[in-house]
Amino acid sequence: MAEELHIASGTKDEKYTLLYKQVEEVIRCESDGIALMANIASMIHHTFNFWWTGFYRVVGKELVLAPFQGHIACSRIDYGKGVCGTAWQRGESVVVEDVEQFPGHIACSSLSRSEIVVPIYNKDNEIIAVLDIDSEHLATFDHIDRLWLEKIASLLGNAL
Ligand code: SME
Repeated sequence: MAEELHIASGTKDEKYTLLYKQVEEVIRCESDGIALMANIASMIHHTFNFWWTGFYRVVGKELVLAPFQGHIACSRIDYGKGVCGTAWQRGESVVVEDVEQFPGHIACSSLSRSEIVVPIYNKDNEIIAVLDIDSEHLATFDHIDRLWLEKIASLLGNAL
């Protein structure tokens, strides 16, 4: 990969545009799901300096912690529980401006203030994982984050 991995400047859209190209490149070079999740979590995390960025994989009736960047997190989340389990149950992204206002939010870190969770669908249209990102600021995530993170989730899901 010739391009610099950490994108320090530019608008949010510009950062996501470059990030998306880098994710495409990583997926072109690797097919292992865990390796891809590890590098994609790192790329997203360090592009935006989020508080926590990672994946939970669907294992039976639970989400199980997968590659992430940030502090230690809870390792299992039930279907329908927390923001992650809710995104899995609804089958769509959940954007939370203030985690204290989300009933049932699971606080892995007391410093987390806002959150986005994006389901990852495989080629058979099954949810196989979720991408979870936490910010230590309120209302960090908007329609631009949702759009781009869903595009990245789609790239990854189709590669698995
Ligand atoms: N806050 C999440 C739990 C996972 S941690 O944020 C890493 C939730 O409510 O599902």
